Amino acid sequence: MKKSFLALILAILMTVAFMGCTNPKTQEVSRPIVIQGAMDVETQKLITQLKNVEEITYGGWKFWKGTIDEFPVVVAKTEIGMTNAAASTVLAIEKFNPIAIINQGTSGGHDPALHRYDIVIGKKAINFGSFRSEHSDYGKGINSEEWIPMDINVSINGEMKELKDFEGDAQLIKAAKSVEKLYKEGKVVEGIIGSADQWNRELDRIKWINKQYGTSVEEMETASSAQIAKTYNVPFLGIRILSNSEVHNEGYDRNSGEYCQQFVLEVIKTLIKEYSK
Ligand code: 5AD
Repeated sequence: MKKSFLALILAILMTVAFMGCTNPKTQEVSRPIVIQGAMDVETQKLITQLKNVEEITYGGWKFWKGTIDEFPVVVAKTEIGMTNAAASTVLAIEKFNPIAIINQGTSGGHDPALHRYDIVIGKKAINFGSFRSEHSDYGKGINSEEWIPMDINVSINGEMKELKDFEGDAQLIKAAKSVEKLYKEGKVVEGIIGSADQWNRELDRIKWINKQYGTSVEEMETASSAQIAKTYNVPFLGIRILSNSEVHNEGYDRNSGEYCQQFVLEVIKTLIKEYSK
């Protein structure tokens, strides 16, 4: 009698423990939002918003893990460029299992309708550094306007696919748009974020990229992070502020990194409310 009573208690305890581990709601809530920025000017303000912050380094990449409004958030400093962004994103996903990733920070304007401090919510991210050329002989010159854009090879559900671009996640776009009225430094638009290991200042080239790809802005990380997020099926969004616009002769302003983080903070708070429902 005593033995079977103990067995019953044990069975109840094990069931409760098992339910705690597998309750999908509990699991969802513990998955963090990862916010990426390449440089200190794009990450420091967000890091100061984290409670109970812990700094973690994997290889050459740093992460700050903490909470905002009691919800887990990881700020990732990707460092500059496509390869760094990809590596940091793989680490973020493997180590923290995020519920969503936002890549944010500075950029240069391509669309003449946009000015410094305007913000682009990335309905798409596109890698504009991937080309092939047709054969031409020695002495025939370098005809970059003739180069042919190449699609990006992405592993999706175990199958290699060729993609032209990476769409921003609809729920994340909705959250970003819902707070656009709070942004006072410029306007907020939906647009296409172009990424490559390039900083273009030749106006004819900027115009060509804008025409070819429909880019609103250029920078060096978003499409790379988006590619990795796509492979892992993690919801992703790029949010970029114009820190400079060659088109309008508006030079780089480092304050723009802070303005972008302020806006992204509002986006995170909105998302946290949704995820906590
Ligand atoms: N072209 C390319 N990258 C830019 N960045 C800001 N403005 C531009 C621009 N006009 C960002 C990149 C990179 C760093 C050098 O600044 O994303 O992280």
